[in-house]
Amino acid sequence: MIKSYFQGKKIVVGVTAGAAIYKSLDLIRSLKKQGADVYPVMTRNAATLISPQLFSAISGNPALVEMFSVESEMGHINLQDMDAICVVPATANLIGKVANGLADDLLTTTILASSAPILIAPAMNDIMWGKSVVQQNVRKLRDMDVTICGPDVGEMACGSYGEGRMADALEILAYLERLFVPKTLKHKKVLVTAGPTREFIDDVRYITNRSSGHMGYSIAKEAWLRGAEVTLISGPVGLTDPYDMNIVKVQTADQMFAAVRSTFHECDYFFSVAAVSDFKPEKSKGKISKADGPLQVTLVQNPDMLEWCAGNKSVGQTVIGFALEDGYLMERTHQKLIRKRCDFMIGNGLGNMEAESGYVVFMYQSGV
Ligand SMILES: Cc1cc2nc3c(=O)[nH]c(=O)nc-3n(C[C@H](O)[C@H](O)[C@H](O)COP(=O)(O)O)c2cc1C
Repeated sequence: MIKSYFQGKKIVVGVTAGAAIYKSLDLIRSLKKQGADVYPVMTRNAATLISPQLFSAISGNPALVEMFSVESEMGHINLQDMDAICVVPATANLIGKVANGLADDLLTTTILASSAPILIAPAMNDIMWGKSVVQQNVRKLRDMDVTICGPDVGEMACGSYGEGRMADALEILAYLERLFVPKTLKHKKVLVTAGPTREFIDDVRYITNRSSGHMGYSIAKEAWLRGAEVTLISGPVGLTDPYDMNIVKVQTADQMFAAVRSTFHECDYFFSVAAVSDFKPEKSKGKISKADGPLQVTLVQNPDMLEWCAGNKSVGQTVIGFALEDGYLMERTHQKLIRKRCDFMIGNGLGNMEAESGYVVFMYQSGV
């Protein structure tokens, strides 16, 4: 199970009357799945588009709408001890009100009365989003340390195409999760390699391995959550691209090495997580014909990227290697740590391949 910073967090999900309102239900479900306790607060207009009853049912907490009602009591005060507030979707109207300190309903009053971090996911027609008054309001929010997530460019409910479409749920979740993570890697540059490589026999066929890329992608995301500027060099994987990082897609070990060589000198931490093929075939051009078989493929050694990085690192750079070992995990991981002169070496058993969780051996130059 991949760790979630949402576990045990109390989050107000503010809901306004935008066409993307139905997407906020999915977001609430995802937050709950990851262990958050969700408190929906809807504007009156939002409550006319979708019944608050549905938000109560999905969140497991009563969806509050009215400021002056017995059910809300002093809702804005009771909601003060929340860990975060997000508004999904956020109309131009809500953005304008929050940016200018207005508090004329339960949602805006809750926002004004809270010192919790705030995330706003704007969603509106491209003409509304392009209005200078909306942009001024968004700048004001940024100046108030409100996190603005999106909007994206795409097709909108009204049928037009442009900037204004609400960011997708995964992006909102990622930015929201980041609000809870101490920024221990702020101002640091982290370089991560992930996934397998493909080593081509001819222009059609290749040799690869079972690496899923999960571990590298998780490390890249964790570094991003902690405030680092991340570059992810990825072999071919079936994973969603993480947000807000520089992603370089490669196929072969040679391409990965070239990408690493060109960025390595800039990074503070290098996580060499990719399952780089040790060998590559002597490649033929075009497609080898079946009639040319039986075939013998000669494998030649790929350059050792990790050894190169450890040998070329400057003072202040940290190199972290990953090893996959079939047995004798401690001994072999230790041998690799010494031979490759890394700062840290993480040893994985074969059971970790394609798995979402597993045990590793963590070794550094003077200990385990
Ligand atoms: C069906 C429908 C969809 C709407 N979609 C949006 C939208 O995506 N973004 C937006 O800013 N306003 C949208 N509006 C206009 C807002 O609902 C309107 O500005 C309203 O005053 C916002 O109220 P609230 O911010 O209190 O929820 C929509 C209105 C309707 C009727």
